[in-house]
Amino acid sequence: MSLVELSAFLENFIKFYGAPMIANAMPVLINGSKPIDGGRLWIDGKRVFGDGKTWEGLTTGLLGGYMASLALSTYFNSTSLIPVLLTASAAALLGDLTGSFIKRRLGLRRGDPAPLLDQLDFALFATLTHLALGNLSIFNDLSFIALSLAAIALLHIATNYIAYTLKLKNRPW
Ligand code: CTP
Ligand code: MG
Repeated sequence: MSLVELSAFLENFIKFYGAPMIANAMPVLINGSKPIDGGRLWIDGKRVFGDGKTWEGLTTGLLGGYMASLALSTYFNSTSLIPVLLTASAAALLGDLTGSFIKRRLGLRRGDPAPLLDQLDFALFATLTHLALGNLSIFNDLSFIALSLAAIALLHIATNYIAYTLKLKNRPW
């Protein structure tokens, strides 16, 4: 990859995944106490989402996604980017919730590692949004999407480790 290609990749990476990444990262910073599932159990007797998915986290995530969407649309000088990034941010948070829903169905407790799912649930949902809205195409942008997901997985591992050393998280994943 040449330097020009790398900077083109980074520009598009930030454009399409910046807001969803911020939306997904914000909840870690606040210590939410009101679980979205209200402590309720699914039909399998396990929690619907678990204590790691809180209303406070969801709200700060949406707020972060909103601010990132505004900032990025200004940077890229495109107002049409605002609704796109807002949708992608909301989708990212829904993806994170879905990831926890799947983990609970698999019998994993809050914070138990689920490799790939932990790192990519939100990014997959953001990608699906971009595909559905026609901003990315599965035929033309497959290598961009694959590279972005790989970058997000690595970034996720690194930032979670930092959050762990800062005692924002109990476990390094
Ligand atoms: N968080 C939150 N509300 C959300 C998402 C995340 O409060 N909607 C906070 C929780 O404190 C959570 C932390 O961010 O512990 C890290 O998120 P994540 O790694 O997704 O949750 P886990 O604790 O690992 O839980 P799970 O096993 O469900 O993934
Ligand atoms: Mg987790």
